[in-house]
Amino acid sequence: MISGIVTVVSNQRSVMILKKNCENREMMKSNFNLMKEIETDQSKEIPQPPLQKPFDGNVDRIKLPEFGEEIILDNNLLHCLKKRRSHRKFKDESLSLKELSFLLWSTQGIDEIRGDNYATIRPVPSAGARHPFETYLLINNIDGLEKGIYRYLPLTHELLFLFTNDEMVKKVEKITFRQKFVATAPVLFIWSCIPYRGEWRYSIASHKAMLLDAGHVCQNLYIASEAIGSGTCAIAAYDQEAIDKLIEVDGEEEFVVYMSPVGKV
Ligand SMILES: Cc1cc2nc3c(=O)[nH]c(=O)nc-3n(C[C@H](O)[C@H](O)[C@H](O)COP(=O)(O)O)c2cc1C
Repeated sequence: MISGIVTVVSNQRSVMILKKNCENREMMKSNFNLMKEIETDQSKEIPQPPLQKPFDGNVDRIKLPEFGEEIILDNNLLHCLKKRRSHRKFKDESLSLKELSFLLWSTQGIDEIRGDNYATIRPVPSAGARHPFETYLLINNIDGLEKGIYRYLPLTHELLFLFTNDEMVKKVEKITFRQKFVATAPVLFIWSCIPYRGEWRYSIASHKAMLLDAGHVCQNLYIASEAIGSGTCAIAAYDQEAIDKLIEVDGEEEFVVYMSPVGKV
């Protein structure tokens, strides 16, 4: 019996859970030793997927403002690292668009494009610079922005307004198993993964790496939030199918992997 599963293997469902546990453990291990036996889509010279999910060019985009030292309350890295905690209570205060711009740049902004749109270099590392994520935002209280679901466009540092409805907050509360602070925060970062971006290059060795990449993104959000008098809390407990449906992704070629609400603390 594998340790960590308190299940009497007495029926088919228990067997299924145990099997899934074993598969999940395998997923945590590196598959890079198999790479020499694998023909990847990159090695077959199949063109790589776009660096950013395409969007309808007719939809209005919001240019994010430049930010500078003026938004930083604490630029001492040692303080920010020492102060870092998961925050589950936020003040009833908005964040400015400049602050949001800073948080988006810190987590997924693009500093450099290498080659012929081959790779992006960002404030976070990513295995093979594949950067397999898209950032969606549930915006409740950002100065100058209508409440709603948005998507970040890192190539141009813009926001794409997707939609709004009265049910969003209630839905997210339910999706996160009643973690109300997640749904009501001024802004909720929702990171989806487009797995083919990693698979194109690393095939079955890509999946572990992509999840590790997600950790770096969220850690930068923690540190950047501390620097602007705000806080965040990594969220992995959510209903997968329901959140994918909410942000209108298919759950196969793109699905949510992580979330993090931000507010003033
Ligand atoms: C991968 C991951 C998933 C997490 N998921 C949740 C979550 O769903 N809900 C929550 O309240 N906290 C969540 N947390 C926050 C942890 O509970 C928190 O980091 C831990 O209690 C340590 O506290 P600290 O971050 O203040 O040091 C998560 C943290 C990580 C790294």
